[in-house]
This record gives sequence, C-alpha cells and structure tokens, in this order.
Amino acid sequence: VKTVRDLELNNKKVLIRVDFNVPIKNGKITNDNRIVAALPTIKYVLEQRGKVILFSHLGRVKTEEDKLTKTLKPVAERLSQLLDKKVEFVPATKGEILEKAIDKLKEGEILLVENTRFEKGETKNDTELGKYWASLGDVYINDAFGTAHREHASNVGIASHLESAAGFLLEKEIEFIGGVVNNPKRPLIAILGGAKVSDKIGVIENLIEKADKILIGGGMMFTFLRAQGKSVGKSLVEEDKIELAKALLEKAGEKIVLPVDTVVTKEFKSDTEYRTVSVDDISQEEMGLDIGSDSVELFKKQLKGAKSVVWNGPMGVFEMENFAKGTIGICEAIAQLEDAITIIGGGDSAAAAIELGYSDKFTHISTGGGASLEYLEGKLLPGIECLNK
Ligand code: 3PG
Repeated sequence: VKTVRDLELNNKKVLIRVDFNVPIKNGKITNDNRIVAALPTIKYVLEQRGKVILFSHLGRVKTEEDKLTKTLKPVAERLSQLLDKKVEFVPATKGEILEKAIDKLKEGEILLVENTRFEKGETKNDTELGKYWASLGDVYINDAFGTAHREHASNVGIASHLESAAGFLLEKEIEFIGGVVNNPKRPLIAILGGAKVSDKIGVIENLIEKADKILIGGGMMFTFLRAQGKSVGKSLVEEDKIELAKALLEKAGEKIVLPVDTVVTKEFKSDTEYRTVSVDDISQEEMGLDIGSDSVELFKKQLKGAKSVVWNGPMGVFEMENFAKGTIGICEAIAQLEDAITIIGGGDSAAAAIELGYSDKFTHISTGGGASLEYLEGKLLPGIECLNK
C-alpha cells in the first residue's frame, strides 16, 4: 500500500483516522497503548508541517446519553501530554464549530474531532458523511488498524474521496500480521487460547493450512478435550462446538497440540484451593482455569527453533494470580526465542503480556482486537483494501 511517506504534507490539511478506542473508567484512561502506537504517524505529519486533523471513534454509541460519557476529550488531554504539545479538542463532528477550528489550524498544529460515532452515518458508511469529512482535508491517512475490519464513513468513506495512504502503525501491522499469514518464516507456530472456540474457529481453519503447529490452551482447550472423549468436569465447554472441534482435530492431524495437564479448582475465585492434574483426571466438581506446568514444558519444546510465532488468547484466567502461570510461562518461552519474529495478535493476550511485564519481549504487539482476528482468518480488511484503490 501507499504510505504516509509517499504524500506531500507541507501546509496540507491532513485527515488522520486513528483508533483511540481506549478503555476509560470514570473519565480516566486505563490503557493508552493505542494512543502511544499512533504517535509516530502524528509526529511525522507535524514535522512535515502538515495540519493534523484526527478522527477516531470511542466505544459503541447507541443512545443520546452515550454521548455524555463517550467523549474523546480525555484522549485529547492524554495525547497532549504524550506529544508535549497543545491538542485542540473540537466537541463536534461536523458543522461550523469544526470547520472554523480547521480554518484556524496552522502548519504543525493538531486537533482532535469528537467521537465519529456520534454521527449515525458513521457505522453505515453513509456516502454523504464520508464525502463531507473528506471535504475538510487535502489528504487522508488511515492509521486505525484496530478499526480496519469495519467499513465505516471515517475510513472507507473518506478514503473513497481523497488521496489516501497508510500510516506507520497500519503499515507495521500489515507487515507483521500480514507477513505471518501470507509469507511466514518457518517453522511458524501459532498459540491460541482464550475462553471460546467459537471466537477462534476462523483463525484455526486458516492456520491449519499455514502454521506448522497450533498449540491450544485457554478455556477453549476443554471443548477440544471433550472432542477427544475426555471428561472435563465443570470446565468451560461449548457443547455445540464439540463436533467441529473433532473435525478440526482430524483435519489437523499432528499439527494441533493440546495441553497434557491443567490447573483446576472448584470455584471460579482467586483465593480458593487449586491443584494441577492430568487432563485425564479432572473430577466432576472441578473446572480447569489454566494450563499446567507440564503443558508449559510441552509448548516450550514445540516452540524450540520457531522462526515465527503468532499468539492470540491467554492460556488461563491470568487476571487471577493462581491461574496466571500458564500465560506467564508462554510469555517467557516466547521471550527466550532467538531469531524469531514473535507477534501477539491483540486483544486479551496483548493485555496479558503488557500487564505481566513482557511487552518489550515481542517483535510486535498488535493494536487490533477483532481486526487482528479477522486478519489472521485470512480475510481482506476494508480499512486496508480501501487504500489500494
Ligand atoms: C476495537 O476495539 O476492536 C476497535 O476499536 C473496533 O471497535 P468496535 O468493535 O466497536 O467496532
């Protein structure tokens, strides 16, 4: 794709779509990774003396009341701290207030437009809205990888009316996640976890063709263990996916590797008794909340010599200390790999690696949740495709 480097930016009104959909509690941002990840593009455009006009959505806006809480104002403040520069927040998504603010903007200055989803037409990719937003700028940069699986007015819409290019973050996500899916250095080992098989079916199906091994942990392992005829007690199982898990196991042959032990407990609580048992010995009253230490060793062995690793989904309930060891073990195993491209496909596993202090041990931690999953499924993402047109 064309990138921000290919654009003439000096004195241009540069519309940049970022994904500032960050978690906010009581007006405070609890994780600013997505803002930090957008800085290289923003700084570059400012250095090139462009006038930066930022667009982002925040959360899902369903009612008028949502508009009170889902404002991007706190994000403008955080961005201003990170850039050490004034960021004007415009409390409007169209009209005179916004247009005047843009008119007043000088080279090397920056403003953030209010939540794009305050416009009903945003998520419908309304043609008029896309055209209107495009009319506010001279060029368009999409750097919102997290939103690339959506076909909305602020990405696909604007891009169809203006000269467009990818920002540095989007470029990096395409390089790493796209690289792993389309042209990996081998062996490629995929590690998949998280609660539900249903979230990962598309990824497993795509990676069965492409990965050399798929290591499966997290809550979804129990549906696979059931497919192998094991009893898993009160562990999380998607009954209606057992047949599918069977079919996937058959298709994958030796490629899918399942845990051999699990950390079980009788209650879903952090401060309760737990023990590690073989996956053949889970009792009726117990539920597995993590992979066990033998499984970590097994997965470590599988990872040896890997040249590419892609990881999506925690190995257990890592938010509870007693059930975090599997996820920590995988972080450590990946951190020890030499000469491998290691990628976390966003979402909970990215949060886990960052929270557990391993964020600098990976080649790339994706800023996408749904977007990285769909990319790993091998789907074309509208937010990327629109830049190729
Ligand atoms: C995300 O957090 O996955 C993106 O920002 C997209 O948000 P959405 O699922 O509300 O479209």
